[in-house]
Amino acid sequence: MEEPTLPASLLFGTATAAYQIEGGVHEGGRGPSIWDTYCRTPGRVARGETGDVACDHYHRYGEDVALLADLGVDLYRFSVAWPRVQPTGKGRPNPEGLAFYDRLVDTVLGAGIEPVLTLYHWDLPQGLEDEGGWRVRDTAYRFAEYSRIVADRLGDRVNRWITLNEPFCSAFVGHAVGRHAPGTREGTPALAAAHHLLLAHGMATGELRAAAAGEVGITLNPDHFLPATDSEADRAAVDRARTLHNRVWFDPLFAGAYPDNEDEVWEGMADGSYRADGDLRIIGQPLDFLGVNFYRPIMLRDAPHAEADPAARTAVDIRTEQVPIEGVRHTTMGWPVVPATFADLLIDLDRRYPNLPPIFITENGSAEDDRPDETGRVRDTNRVEYLRDHLDALATAIDAGVDVRGYFVWSLLDNFEWAFGYDRRFGLVRVDYELLERHPKDSYHWYRDFLTSHRARRVQEFAAQREE
Ligand code: FCB
Repeated sequence: MEEPTLPASLLFGTATAAYQIEGGVHEGGRGPSIWDTYCRTPGRVARGETGDVACDHYHRYGEDVALLADLGVDLYRFSVAWPRVQPTGKGRPNPEGLAFYDRLVDTVLGAGIEPVLTLYHWDLPQGLEDEGGWRVRDTAYRFAEYSRIVADRLGDRVNRWITLNEPFCSAFVGHAVGRHAPGTREGTPALAAAHHLLLAHGMATGELRAAAAGEVGITLNPDHFLPATDSEADRAAVDRARTLHNRVWFDPLFAGAYPDNEDEVWEGMADGSYRADGDLRIIGQPLDFLGVNFYRPIMLRDAPHAEADPAARTAVDIRTEQVPIEGVRHTTMGWPVVPATFADLLIDLDRRYPNLPPIFITENGSAEDDRPDETGRVRDTNRVEYLRDHLDALATAIDAGVDVRGYFVWSLLDNFEWAFGYDRRFGLVRVDYELLERHPKDSYHWYRDFLTSHRARRVQEFAAQREE
């Protein structure tokens, strides 16, 4: 089968996140995060699983970086656990925590790979949650301080910084759906959390600039919505969902405004009490890149309050309901595989927001029902097909003029998939959770071959350019 052809300058990597792989939660002076608390609350995470050990990356990072080196990636995206750096979320930094990331960054660089650092991938220090967490403005100030500590320590070696990962999930899955930590169903406080996350991003951006840390971006998970029918009601439902999922973030970041349809979407829930004059200016500072995570499209229909299933209702109820997409494969997450919608999303964002900075696809991948054969080999052809088809879609978007500079597979390793625990496997590398052994899957070998030929083209083009 033919492999996707992408611009030779496009950079490739894999992504992970601290709580999902590190383990060692009681080591190195790390304090508890909201995910430690959530995992310990009965009934929250499948089978009561936790990130206590995870992939034991805290001890085995050397082995993991060796896997990355062998894979041949340009970039490695990882996150720093705030509670390792500041165990209670404020005050003096914990030297052991910083030393861990220092070693990790040096090991990654030593392997000829560029580290891309995410400052916040959902593990808020529990100490800050106890004081209101993202519902209160003070947490944004604490995040700015934490960001400066990390920038001062690693800014001489890390050149690409992502402030937040998917603030949509922190704000709404965490405080409205209740399926992520802290696991509550609140209305206005969820909207306040969204605002404070944006503010935190803006303030951290200021600190990273002051520390001359390098390029700064944010990772969002914009969704691509399909109306269940062409009816006006379903199209209006998609508009509301687009505000909740996308515009809440994109409008302040890239258009200097809050969404103009808030009254219709929130029905009075957004009282704006959490906003202050000047916030938009802090939030909307120019960025060097935008991170986009993409997995699947969502089909929606209009679902007036009276019709919606109360059990599925969230505290930020925008009167929509998801509708299954028929006739396509679904991954073990239950997510429909429709690669063309990846291109549609990117092209649509590019047209809606003319001021978007260059894009990095900071996550894309699939959870599959991986089964090792008697030799331990995992023939994950579904994952290979998923990645290949999404890279093809990416090529379509780039051909249409979208400025994409890099792409990361989620994920290097099987890991702790939040409320689903360990049985949803996203890795290019299988993790045996009993022995903590790593076994590259067929997709790992496929990606390695793809990267080898991609790099060969890069070398050729570079040589050709020099001759010109
Ligand atoms: C994204 C998260 C990432 C991972 C993937 C499957 O929403 O950023 O941590 O769980 O989904």
